[in-house]
Amino acid sequence: MVVLVTGASKGIGFETALKYAKEGYDVVINYNNSMREALTLENKVRSFGVNAMVIKCDISNEKEVIDMIEQVKKEFGRIDVLVNNAGIAIDTTFEDKTVDNFRKTLDINLIGTFLVSKYAAKIMDEGVIINVGSTNGIDTTYPESLDYDASKAGVISLTHNLSTEFSPKIRVNCICPGWVNTDMNKKLDLDFVKEEKSKIKLGRFAEPSEIADAIYNISICSYINDSIIRVDGGEHA
Ligand SMILES: NC(=O)c1ccc[n+]([C@@H]2O[C@H](COP(=O)([O-])OP(=O)(O)OC[C@H]3O[C@@H](n4cnc5c(N)ncnc54)[C@H](OP(=O)(O)O)[C@@H]3O)[C@@H](O)[C@H]2O)c1
Repeated sequence: MVVLVTGASKGIGFETALKYAKEGYDVVINYNNSMREALTLENKVRSFGVNAMVIKCDISNEKEVIDMIEQVKKEFGRIDVLVNNAGIAIDTTFEDKTVDNFRKTLDINLIGTFLVSKYAAKIMDEGVIINVGSTNGIDTTYPESLDYDASKAGVISLTHNLSTEFSPKIRVNCICPGWVNTDMNKKLDLDFVKEEKSKIKLGRFAEPSEIADAIYNISICSYINDSIIRVDGGEHA
Protein backbone atom coordinates (compact mmCIF):
# COMPACT_ATOMS: atom_id res chain seq x y z
CA MET A 1 0.00 0.00 0.00
CA VAL A 2 1.26 3.47 -0.91
CA VAL A 3 0.43 6.73 0.84
CA LEU A 4 1.27 10.22 -0.42
CA VAL A 5 1.36 12.83 2.33
CA THR A 6 1.62 16.44 1.20
CA GLY A 7 3.48 18.82 3.49
CA ALA A 8 5.10 15.90 5.29
CA SER A 9 8.26 17.76 6.30
CA LYS A 10 6.72 19.18 9.47
CA GLY A 11 4.01 18.96 12.10
CA ILE A 12 0.90 16.93 11.34
CA GLY A 13 2.18 15.73 7.95
CA PHE A 14 5.46 14.47 9.47
CA GLU A 15 3.63 12.43 12.11
CA THR A 16 1.10 11.19 9.57
CA ALA A 17 3.85 9.87 7.30
CA LEU A 18 5.41 8.09 10.30
CA LYS A 19 2.08 6.59 11.33
CA TYR A 20 1.50 5.06 7.88
CA ALA A 21 5.10 3.77 7.82
CA LYS A 22 4.52 2.05 11.18
CA GLU A 23 1.42 0.46 9.67
CA GLY A 24 3.50 -0.94 6.79
CA TYR A 25 2.74 1.53 4.00
CA ASP A 26 5.33 2.76 1.52
CA VAL A 27 5.42 6.52 1.96
CA VAL A 28 5.77 9.39 -0.50
CA ILE A 29 7.01 12.42 1.44
CA ASN A 30 6.15 15.72 -0.21
CA TYR A 31 7.77 18.96 0.94
CA ASN A 32 8.27 22.42 -0.50
CA ASN A 33 10.97 24.30 1.48
CA SER A 34 12.06 22.05 4.36
CA MET A 35 14.37 19.57 2.63
CA ARG A 36 16.43 18.72 5.74
CA GLU A 37 13.31 17.76 7.71
CA ALA A 38 11.99 15.73 4.75
CA LEU A 39 15.25 13.77 4.54
CA THR A 40 15.20 13.13 8.30
CA LEU A 41 11.68 11.79 7.88
CA GLU A 42 12.77 9.58 4.98
CA ASN A 43 15.32 7.84 7.26
CA LYS A 44 12.75 7.38 10.01
CA VAL A 45 10.21 5.96 7.56
CA ARG A 46 12.77 3.49 6.18
CA SER A 47 13.61 2.35 9.72
CA PHE A 48 10.16 0.67 9.75
CA GLY A 49 11.24 -1.52 6.82
CA VAL A 50 9.07 0.20 4.20
CA ASN A 51 10.00 2.21 1.12
CA ALA A 52 10.16 5.98 1.14
CA MET A 53 10.40 8.57 -1.59
CA VAL A 54 10.95 12.30 -1.08
CA ILE A 55 9.56 14.77 -3.61
CA LYS A 56 9.92 18.54 -3.61
CA CYS A 57 6.75 20.06 -5.04
CA ASP A 58 4.85 23.27 -4.49
CA ILE A 59 1.31 21.91 -4.49
CA SER A 60 -0.06 25.20 -5.82
CA ASN A 61 1.96 24.77 -9.04
CA GLU A 62 0.10 22.54 -11.50
CA LYS A 63 3.18 21.52 -13.47
CA GLU A 64 5.04 20.52 -10.31
CA VAL A 65 2.04 18.49 -9.16
CA ILE A 66 1.84 16.67 -12.51
CA ASP A 67 5.59 15.90 -12.25
CA MET A 68 5.21 14.67 -8.67
CA ILE A 69 2.45 12.23 -9.59
CA GLU A 70 4.47 11.04 -12.61
CA GLN A 71 7.41 10.29 -10.30
CA VAL A 72 5.17 8.34 -7.92
CA LYS A 73 3.70 6.40 -10.84
CA LYS A 74 7.20 5.47 -12.05
CA GLU A 75 8.40 4.39 -8.59
CA PHE A 76 5.31 2.69 -7.10
CA GLY A 77 2.79 2.45 -9.95
CA ARG A 78 -0.10 3.68 -7.82
CA ILE A 79 -1.39 5.57 -4.80
CA ASP A 80 -3.75 3.98 -2.27
CA VAL A 81 -4.08 6.83 0.21
CA LEU A 82 -3.66 10.54 -0.40
CA VAL A 83 -3.42 12.84 2.61
CA ASN A 84 -3.86 16.45 1.51
CA ASN A 85 -2.18 17.99 4.52
CA ALA A 86 0.04 20.82 3.21
CA GLY A 87 -1.15 24.24 4.26
CA ILE A 88 -0.16 27.69 5.40
CA ALA A 89 -1.59 30.40 7.63
CA ILE A 90 -0.52 34.02 7.34
CA ASP A 91 -1.96 35.70 10.41
CA THR A 92 -2.27 39.50 10.35
CA THR A 93 -4.71 42.04 11.69
CA PHE A 94 -7.81 42.59 9.55
CA GLU A 95 -6.42 45.98 8.42
CA ASP A 96 -3.12 44.41 7.32
CA LYS A 97 -4.69 41.65 5.21
CA THR A 98 -3.39 41.90 1.67
CA VAL A 99 -4.78 40.49 -1.55
CA ASP A 100 -1.42 38.80 -2.17
CA ASN A 101 -1.52 36.95 1.14
CA PHE A 102 -5.16 36.05 0.67
CA ARG A 103 -4.45 34.62 -2.81
CA LYS A 104 -1.38 32.72 -1.62
CA THR A 105 -3.39 31.11 1.16
CA LEU A 106 -6.17 30.07 -1.25
CA ASP A 107 -3.63 28.91 -3.84
CA ILE A 108 -1.93 26.51 -1.44
CA ASN A 109 -4.67 25.41 0.93
CA LEU A 110 -7.56 25.14 -1.52
CA ILE A 111 -6.32 25.03 -5.11
CA GLY A 112 -3.31 22.92 -4.10
CA THR A 113 -5.65 20.38 -2.50
CA PHE A 114 -7.71 20.33 -5.69
CA LEU A 115 -4.66 19.90 -7.93
CA VAL A 116 -3.08 17.04 -5.99
CA SER A 117 -6.45 15.27 -5.75
CA LYS A 118 -7.13 15.68 -9.47
CA TYR A 119 -3.81 14.20 -10.61
CA ALA A 120 -3.35 11.62 -7.83
CA ALA A 121 -6.82 10.17 -8.55
CA LYS A 122 -5.59 9.23 -12.03
CA ILE A 123 -3.26 6.64 -10.47
CA MET A 124 -5.63 5.47 -7.71
CA ASP A 125 -7.52 2.26 -8.62
CA GLU A 126 -9.44 2.49 -5.42
CA GLY A 127 -8.55 4.12 -2.15
CA VAL A 128 -9.11 7.12 -0.01
CA ILE A 129 -8.34 10.81 0.09
CA ILE A 130 -8.17 12.57 3.44
CA ASN A 131 -8.22 16.36 3.26
CA VAL A 132 -6.96 18.27 6.27
CA GLY A 133 -9.43 21.07 6.92
CA SER A 134 -9.84 22.91 10.20
CA THR A 135 -12.52 23.83 12.69
CA ASN A 136 -11.76 27.36 11.42
CA GLY A 137 -13.56 26.31 8.25
CA ILE A 138 -16.66 25.25 10.18
CA ASP A 139 -17.61 27.55 12.99
CA THR A 140 -14.80 29.45 14.65
CA THR A 141 -14.09 32.99 13.51
CA TYR A 142 -10.78 34.82 13.73
CA PRO A 143 -10.52 38.01 11.60
CA GLU A 144 -6.71 37.68 11.75
CA SER A 145 -7.00 34.42 9.81
CA LEU A 146 -10.07 35.11 7.70
CA ASP A 147 -8.23 34.10 4.52
CA TYR A 148 -7.15 30.81 6.11
CA ASP A 149 -10.66 30.22 7.45
CA ALA A 150 -12.16 30.79 3.98
CA SER A 151 -9.63 28.40 2.45
CA LYS A 152 -10.60 25.69 4.95
CA ALA A 153 -14.33 26.26 4.37
CA GLY A 154 -13.45 25.77 0.69
CA VAL A 155 -11.70 22.49 1.49
CA ILE A 156 -14.93 21.24 3.07
CA SER A 157 -16.90 22.10 -0.07
CA LEU A 158 -14.17 20.55 -2.20
CA THR A 159 -14.40 17.35 -0.14
CA HIS A 160 -18.12 16.98 -0.92
CA ASN A 161 -17.54 17.57 -4.64
CA LEU A 162 -14.53 15.25 -4.88
CA SER A 163 -16.49 12.55 -3.11
CA THR A 164 -19.32 12.95 -5.61
CA GLU A 165 -16.86 12.78 -8.50
CA PHE A 166 -14.72 9.87 -7.26
CA SER A 167 -17.16 7.59 -5.38
CA PRO A 168 -17.42 4.64 -5.18
CA LYS A 169 -13.84 4.14 -6.40
CA ILE A 170 -12.25 6.62 -4.01
CA ARG A 171 -13.68 7.69 -0.67
CA VAL A 172 -13.04 11.34 0.21
CA ASN A 173 -13.20 12.70 3.75
CA CYS A 174 -12.11 15.81 5.56
CA ILE A 175 -10.63 15.87 9.04
CA CYS A 176 -10.95 19.17 10.90
CA PRO A 177 -8.47 19.59 13.73
CA GLY A 178 -8.83 22.29 16.33
CA TRP A 179 -5.63 23.68 17.84
CA VAL A 180 -2.50 21.55 17.36
CA ASN A 181 1.01 22.05 18.79
CA THR A 182 2.95 22.72 15.57
CA ASP A 183 5.12 25.44 14.04
CA MET A 184 1.95 27.01 12.63
CA ASN A 185 1.06 28.14 16.14
CA LYS A 186 4.48 28.83 17.60
CA LYS A 187 4.13 32.63 17.47
CA LEU A 188 0.81 32.81 19.30
CA ASP A 189 0.50 35.17 22.23
CA LEU A 190 0.57 33.21 25.52
CA ASP A 191 -2.52 34.90 26.93
CA PHE A 192 -4.40 34.05 23.73
CA VAL A 193 -3.26 30.41 24.01
CA LYS A 194 -4.49 30.28 27.61
CA GLU A 195 -7.87 31.67 26.59
CA GLU A 196 -8.19 29.21 23.68
CA LYS A 197 -7.28 26.25 25.92
CA SER A 198 -10.03 27.28 28.31
CA LYS A 199 -12.54 26.71 25.46
CA ILE A 200 -11.39 23.10 24.91
CA LYS A 201 -12.96 20.40 27.05
CA LEU A 202 -9.69 18.46 27.18
CA GLY A 203 -7.98 21.69 28.31
CA ARG A 204 -5.03 21.43 25.93
CA PHE A 205 -3.97 21.62 22.28
CA ALA A 206 -3.56 18.34 20.36
CA GLU A 207 -0.19 16.78 19.63
CA PRO A 208 0.39 16.26 15.88
CA SER A 209 0.62 12.49 16.45
CA GLU A 210 -2.98 12.52 17.77
CA ILE A 211 -4.17 14.07 14.50
CA ALA A 212 -2.08 11.55 12.56
CA ASP A 213 -3.79 8.71 14.43
CA ALA A 214 -7.20 10.16 13.52
CA ILE A 215 -6.23 10.52 9.85
CA TYR A 216 -5.02 6.92 9.69
CA ASN A 217 -8.01 5.48 11.49
CA ILE A 218 -10.52 7.36 9.37
CA SER A 219 -8.72 6.25 6.23
CA ILE A 220 -9.14 2.56 7.10
CA CYS A 221 -12.87 2.78 7.91
CA SER A 222 -14.34 1.47 4.67
CA TYR A 223 -17.82 3.02 5.10
CA ILE A 224 -16.75 6.56 6.01
CA ASN A 225 -17.19 8.69 2.91
CA ASP A 226 -17.97 12.37 2.26
CA SER A 227 -17.65 13.08 5.98
CA ILE A 228 -16.37 16.16 7.76
CA ILE A 229 -14.89 15.00 11.06
CA ARG A 230 -13.84 17.27 13.92
CA VAL A 231 -10.84 16.30 16.01
CA ASP A 232 -10.73 19.19 18.45
CA GLY A 233 -10.71 17.89 22.01
CA GLY A 234 -14.28 19.15 22.43
CA GLU A 235 -14.25 22.84 21.60
CA HIS A 236 -16.99 25.09 22.84
CA ALA A 237 -17.38 28.76 21.96
N1 LIG B 1 -1.64 23.49 13.70
C1 LIG B 1 -2.95 23.62 13.84
O1 LIG B 1 -3.43 24.12 14.89
C2 LIG B 1 -3.88 23.19 12.75
C3 LIG B 1 -5.25 23.16 13.04
C4 LIG B 1 -6.14 22.76 12.05
C5 LIG B 1 -5.66 22.41 10.80
N2 LIG B 1 -4.33 22.47 10.54
C6 LIG B 1 -3.90 22.10 9.19
O2 LIG B 1 -3.03 21.00 9.25
C7 LIG B 1 -2.15 21.03 8.14
C8 LIG B 1 -0.72 20.89 8.62
O3 LIG B 1 -0.45 21.99 9.47
P1 LIG B 1 0.72 22.00 10.56
O4 LIG B 1 0.14 22.62 11.76
O5 LIG B 1 1.36 20.67 10.64
O6 LIG B 1 1.66 23.09 9.88
P2 LIG B 1 3.25 23.24 9.76
O7 LIG B 1 3.92 22.58 10.90
O8 LIG B 1 3.46 24.67 9.50
O9 LIG B 1 3.56 22.40 8.44
C9 LIG B 1 3.04 22.79 7.21
C10 LIG B 1 3.53 21.82 6.14
O10 LIG B 1 2.94 22.22 4.90
C11 LIG B 1 3.95 22.26 3.92
N3 LIG B 1 3.67 23.23 2.86
C12 LIG B 1 3.36 24.56 2.98
N4 LIG B 1 3.20 25.10 1.77
C13 LIG B 1 3.40 24.10 0.86
C14 LIG B 1 3.37 24.04 -0.56
N5 LIG B 1 3.10 25.13 -1.30
N6 LIG B 1 3.62 22.86 -1.16
C15 LIG B 1 3.90 21.76 -0.44
N7 LIG B 1 3.97 21.75 0.93
C16 LIG B 1 3.72 22.92 1.55
C17 LIG B 1 5.21 22.63 4.66
O11 LIG B 1 6.33 22.17 3.90
P3 LIG B 1 7.72 23.00 3.77
O12 LIG B 1 8.07 23.47 5.17
O13 LIG B 1 8.63 21.94 3.22
O14 LIG B 1 7.47 24.12 2.82
C18 LIG B 1 5.03 21.84 5.97
O15 LIG B 1 5.49 20.52 5.82
C19 LIG B 1 -2.44 22.34 7.40
O16 LIG B 1 -3.30 22.12 6.33
C20 LIG B 1 -3.12 23.18 8.48
O17 LIG B 1 -3.94 24.16 7.93
C21 LIG B 1 -3.43 22.84 11.48
